Amino acid sequence: MKILSIETSADETAVSIIEATGEFPDATYEILGNALHSQIELHTQYGGIFPMMAKREHAKAIVPLLQNALEEAGMLIKSSPGIEQPPALPSSSRNLEQSRVERLHEILIKEPELADTFITFLESHDIKDEIGCIAVTSGPGLEPALWVGVSFAKALSFILNVPVVPINHMEGHILASLYDVVQDDAIAEVRFPALALLISGGHTELVLIKNWGFYEKVGQTKDDAVGEAFDKVARMMGLPYPGGPEIGRRAKIAREEKLPPFKKDMPRPMLHSGDLNFSFSGIKTSVRNAIEGKELTETNKNALSRDFEDAVTEVLLKKTQTALTQYGAQTLIVGGGVSASSHIREIFQTELLHSHPDIEVYFPQPKLSTDNSIMIALAGHAHVTEGRTAGAVGLIRADGNKSL
Ligand code: KG4
Ligand code: ZN
Repeated sequence: MKILSIETSADETAVSIIEATGEFPDATYEILGNALHSQIELHTQYGGIFPMMAKREHAKAIVPLLQNALEEAGMLIKSSPGIEQPPALPSSSRNLEQSRVERLHEILIKEPELADTFITFLESHDIKDEIGCIAVTSGPGLEPALWVGVSFAKALSFILNVPVVPINHMEGHILASLYDVVQDDAIAEVRFPALALLISGGHTELVLIKNWGFYEKVGQTKDDAVGEAFDKVARMMGLPYPGGPEIGRRAKIAREEKLPPFKKDMPRPMLHSGDLNFSFSGIKTSVRNAIEGKELTETNKNALSRDFEDAVTEVLLKKTQTALTQYGAQTLIVGGGVSASSHIREIFQTELLHSHPDIEVYFPQPKLSTDNSIMIALAGHAHVTEGRTAGAVGLIRADGNKSL
């Protein structure tokens, strides 16, 4: 089955086409086409994402990305106007009847420019009739940004006459962490119960997975998400957005040079709270207080990056260890943009080898850590695979809750 997938929940616009052979979770996947546009350069000027700006960028990028992904997959036919259609027809009607044009405008009512771009594209291109479904991120994320992806998926579904499968972005991150990490092109085998630590720009949560499709959120941040804390702390130090990679790079230098701490008593919030929740705003405030009114040298910035990264990593690790023990988890799946951190990876791998030697620990390939549409296609396949549909990822949740 070929799945076309769309991701627009934050600052990455992505479209891919993957071919799944077999049933989830034993299928193999071939990536036929994959196109991604990152808005990082735009948002870097502001130190964070502005939802309406992100929405506009998604709307601009999505048709060219669709075209690229389809071309790469060999699924795009440039139509030759005038051969199949009578030349007397106006050019806007060559491939699209007026009623279909009108329907597309209705579906994309909130995105009139996107509607025009898509219609122009359809006038000169035909998409091969091979796609089985369209998987699209329907949440969580920035509302206006999500709207672009979801409306576009509906428009495509109308044109291709295939169903839309709404996907929870966090489920996507879980599957991304298992894809192509043990066995080529396949999802790693998971022993249940499993625990997922999802750490991204918008979320920090511990999710207990009793089986595919049975999710229970057992811990979450009370304030900032961990990626958000990386981004805000970076901004305070005058470092570029996104903060995670830059803080990681500087922290590494500080460790190599064995720099003394810039901030000795960086807090480890909620370490002993007795639950599995997190809080990162205290660490952020502590950084703000430490640098207030000071001129930071490059060395200071490196040392502070390390102090911050150490504090965050320790809190994430300790809470995860507690949760693994509490639920007798057999597998740990770490996902989301912050899981790209080489320091977090290293500390988790070494520390868990001592504390929980029998569990399998999975991190995503670095290129699948941050947002992408391959993960959405994988989750889409989990939902539609026959025989598992009812129990597939996300359809049944232990807590009856619709969002992770
Ligand atoms: O999952 P993601 O791409 O988007 C959301 O769903 O939010 O995560 C983006 C977050 C950003 O906050 C970014 O600073 C962080 O992931 N990030 C990192 C690293 N690479 C990206 N954080 C720490 N270390 C990294 N190497
Ligand atoms: Zn994400």
